[in-house]
Amino acid sequence: MGASRIVILGAPGAGKGTQAARLSAAHGLAHLSTGDMLRAAVADGTPAGLRAKEFMDAGQLVPDEVVFGVLFERLAEANEGYLLDGFPRNAAQAEELDRQLAEQGAPLELAVVVDVPDERLVARLTGRRVCSSCGNTHHVEFMPPAKEGVCDKCGGELVQRSDDTEAVARDRLEVYHQTTAPLIDYYNARDLLASVDGDGPVERVTQDLVEVLSRDVAEQN
Ligand code: AP5
Ligand code: MG
Ligand code: ZN
Repeated sequence: MGASRIVILGAPGAGKGTQAARLSAAHGLAHLSTGDMLRAAVADGTPAGLRAKEFMDAGQLVPDEVVFGVLFERLAEANEGYLLDGFPRNAAQAEELDRQLAEQGAPLELAVVVDVPDERLVARLTGRRVCSSCGNTHHVEFMPPAKEGVCDKCGGELVQRSDDTEAVARDRLEVYHQTTAPLIDYYNARDLLASVDGDGPVERVTQDLVEVLSRDVAEQN
């Protein structure tokens, strides 16, 4: 049996969301993106969204308790398994995740890093366009829609995320290296880590991820 309780790690723009969307349907896994959940909370004007907005606009991490509030209910419902995208992002979040999963008797099975060199990431972020209706992600150069400004999947309007300016993208990259990248060691020490080369065609990266997800999961103690 392959893994079904999975964390996808990687820098901003590495392709976590793109790959999780491609994998989730095919593997019957829930795609749980804390960034998407927080953006939805901001759009809805909920208390969590009101707190999160200034941190997101600045490219900084949203306080842990706000993130826990939007995530953990959804996580508990994902009984068929999940791809966690954008969470955890610091040691406290990783430890809280382990605690919650231990309570459910269903520990994490895999943490996979999508690895892309920094010099590729800013161009990926500033060129990203997201569908305002269905969330599908394009890139003006690397994954252009058939018709400019229009989502290939649903015909919705493509927009730019407010944090995809070059300045905020660079701040997010710095936060990633300082605070999130150390989780690679955290999961390596727990024998949960795998890595794929994310610097190549989307389809090839998906294939590599499928291969990693399909490997046998080590018996948990
Ligand atoms: P979040 O939404 O998670 O953003 P992120 O981590 O910065 O990651 P991105 O969504 O920018 O990148 P991605 O890896 O998903 O790339 P994508 O597939 O879109 O978080 C946003 C903010 O919310 C944070 O800054 C923080 O404030 C807050 N937040 C979220 N979670 C939090 C948490 N746990 N704790 C605290 N705060 C939290 O791809 C990028 C582009 O590249 C696209 O245009 C795509 O088309 C293109 N692309 C994808 N793959 C390829 C490829 N192989 N080749 C060429 N182009 C490609
Ligand atoms: Mg994303
Ligand atoms: Zn769409």
